[in-house]
Amino acid sequence: MSDDDQPQQDATPVTDPRDGDRPHENALTGPRDGDRPGEDTLKDPGPDGRSREEAVTVTGLRYAFGSSTAVDGLDLTVTSGEVFGLLGPNGAGKTTAIRCVTTLLPVPAGMVKVFGHDVTTDRMAVRRLLGYVPQQLSADAGLTGRENVALFARVFDVPRRERAARVAQALEAVGLAEVADRMAGTYSGGMVRRLELAQALISSPRLLILDEPTIGLDPIARTGVWDHIMAVRAASGMTVLVTTHYMDEADQYCDRVALMHQGRVRALGTPRRLTDDLRARRGDGTSPTLEDVFRDVAGSGLDDLDKGGEFRDVRRTRRTAARVG
Ligand SMILES: Nc1ncnc2c1ncn2[C@@H]1O[C@H](COP(=O)(O)OP(=O)(O)OP(=O)(O)O)[C@@H](O)[C@H]1O
Ligand SMILES: [Mg+2]
Repeated sequence: MSDDDQPQQDATPVTDPRDGDRPHENALTGPRDGDRPGEDTLKDPGPDGRSREEAVTVTGLRYAFGSSTAVDGLDLTVTSGEVFGLLGPNGAGKTTAIRCVTTLLPVPAGMVKVFGHDVTTDRMAVRRLLGYVPQQLSADAGLTGRENVALFARVFDVPRRERAARVAQALEAVGLAEVADRMAGTYSGGMVRRLELAQALISSPRLLILDEPTIGLDPIARTGVWDHIMAVRAASGMTVLVTTHYMDEADQYCDRVALMHQGRVRALGTPRRLTDDLRARRGDGTSPTLEDVFRDVAGSGLDDLDKGGEFRDVRRTRRTAARVG
């Protein structure tokens, strides 16, 4: 795979689930606002009494595009059943790291595992376990919603006899049943993102990876996307790894977040713990938000393209937002 931008490769499905009836072992029950597990409790047994596995294990990951280092010694563990947010400014290396996890990029240095399977040596096993909604849009405007999802069902090898029902089910799960036979090109931005969610869910993934699923959406559409993610997750117990620039979303929906900056994790914990830590450090009696933590980690130079992200990052983000909106 070359180092060039390859949106068409991002659009390529990366899961190949042949075991749609795979039991989900760590079913959790919905968002746990106010009752979110701390880092310690995540190591405790899940609600079913079994100990939780590591869904994603990243150790010392490095990735460079030519002479430019995008991921610089990343260490990260996502525990099964949690909603994990990967946050950070434009150009922090989030998408690059995620593409290594999905096997779309190789792992030149370090190690990445998904449910214990090494992404380098056990590529197909990894692909069977995950669903991926890329940052770049992947739905085909010239097909209906149903056709888009059916395409993924075929590629992912959903048995022919089950396909129509599974496609209908996935569309239903994201609230698109009524408009399933309309061209995707006529969908609003929120509907397109939900369609891509249905595509990623057709494989009943154990790990759902979402790269800025709500970019460019209005607040109501954003809530709509998240409602569907959380409903599917509550029903299936799947693990969710998500990136977002919306700190309110991360605060509301993520059990834990990692703040990435210049290719590395700079802060990690529950949103509550990170804001508590910043409050303690400031000691001025104010109540910081997750956005304050973000600013604290990423530094004050966020508007400075030299520091916060290169021109290409901003241009790419705007292009995606424009296509969604
Ligand atoms: N295909 C590419 N070719 C060359 N450089 C790239 C490529 N993709 C990313 N980069 C560079 O790698 C670094 C990390 O980019 P990446 O897309 O992983 O960041 P990000 O955290 O996802 O940013 P954003 O929030 O804007 O999506 C940036 O400096 C970016 O310019
Ligand atoms: Mg990105």
